[in-house]
Amino acid sequence: MNNLISLVDKLHLENHLEKKEYITLIKAFDNTQLREYLFTLSDKVRQENYGKDVYLRGLIEFTSYCKNDCYYCGLRCSNREAERYRLSKEDILLCCEEGYSLGFRTFVLQGGEDMHYTDEIICDIVRTIKEKFSQCAVTLSIGEKSKESYQRYFDAGADRYLLRHETADLSHYSKLHPANLSGQFRQECLFNLKEIGFQTGAGFMVGSPYQTVENLADDMLFLEKLKPEMVGIGPFIPHHATPFKQEKKGSVELTLFMLALVRLALPTCLLPATTALGTADSDGRQKGLKCGANVLMPNLSPVTVRKKYLLYDNKIALGDESAQCVEQVRRMVENAGYKAVISRGDHILHR
Ligand code: 5AD
Repeated sequence: MNNLISLVDKLHLENHLEKKEYITLIKAFDNTQLREYLFTLSDKVRQENYGKDVYLRGLIEFTSYCKNDCYYCGLRCSNREAERYRLSKEDILLCCEEGYSLGFRTFVLQGGEDMHYTDEIICDIVRTIKEKFSQCAVTLSIGEKSKESYQRYFDAGADRYLLRHETADLSHYSKLHPANLSGQFRQECLFNLKEIGFQTGAGFMVGSPYQTVENLADDMLFLEKLKPEMVGIGPFIPHHATPFKQEKKGSVELTLFMLALVRLALPTCLLPATTALGTADSDGRQKGLKCGANVLMPNLSPVTVRKKYLLYDNKIALGDESAQCVEQVRRMVENAGYKAVISRGDHILHR
């Protein structure tokens, strides 16, 4: 036990562990004493950097078309069952207007890799949002692109970009994706985004098929190297119309443990308590906030399309109005002992 505690202390002090040390810690994730110690510390570190603030991001899932065929994702192109939709620029702006009046100061435009949205279209949408809502940040989450495209989005005014690395281990990556996708290219994209100046988000699923403790340790080392401003982590949840439909879902307990480790390794990062965490456990997001997470991303997509953006089964926030949904989220934050603030919620080093 003392050995485990001293590893947590070392991570806290040095923001770094050796791979074998991460492995030792992660293997002990269900040790109650260890968890209590780690979570108390990760909550303290988040508090030192961001106080009790929880930042809300309005998530706009603007297209469910995707050219990729990732084995875990319900939006994969081979899923003929998936209902596909696209939001127009006008639809997206309406979401932003509603979001703005509900107190959002960040809009996250997320979608499958949909070639309908050329760089010109994306840049036009970004420019218009930034003109109309000049106090707001725009985050893009639209997948792998060339460095030139990323630069164009940045020049159009996009502030942040989310692209989970999914798994840092290249051979594990190839077990989750078809051969035309490479983990190496994905990681290059992330370094390009950082270089351009985006606040950049990486991240991974916990409990994805074939994942080992070694893989999770490598994910931690990858994050140490990339130093992303944001890290999205959620449990893998099977989707019934994918090759992984029979696989078991990721552990909520392990997901919380990984969130806390990330908070210690990257003390100033913005760390969402994700929708997947809230889907796997109805208290998952509150639990996430208590062990280091400080961001929530309520859904602002039009209610009519929400049930069509299904990455995994039983995804929450279906059917509610955005406004209701936001009210619930604010209440949940308060109940967990934190404060939902109206602000862009930039990373400390990007203010
Ligand atoms: N379970 C959990 N997370 C998933 N994602 C995609 N499919 C699933 C799933 N079945 C995550 C991926 C992706 C993000 C948008 O959603 O990590 O990057």
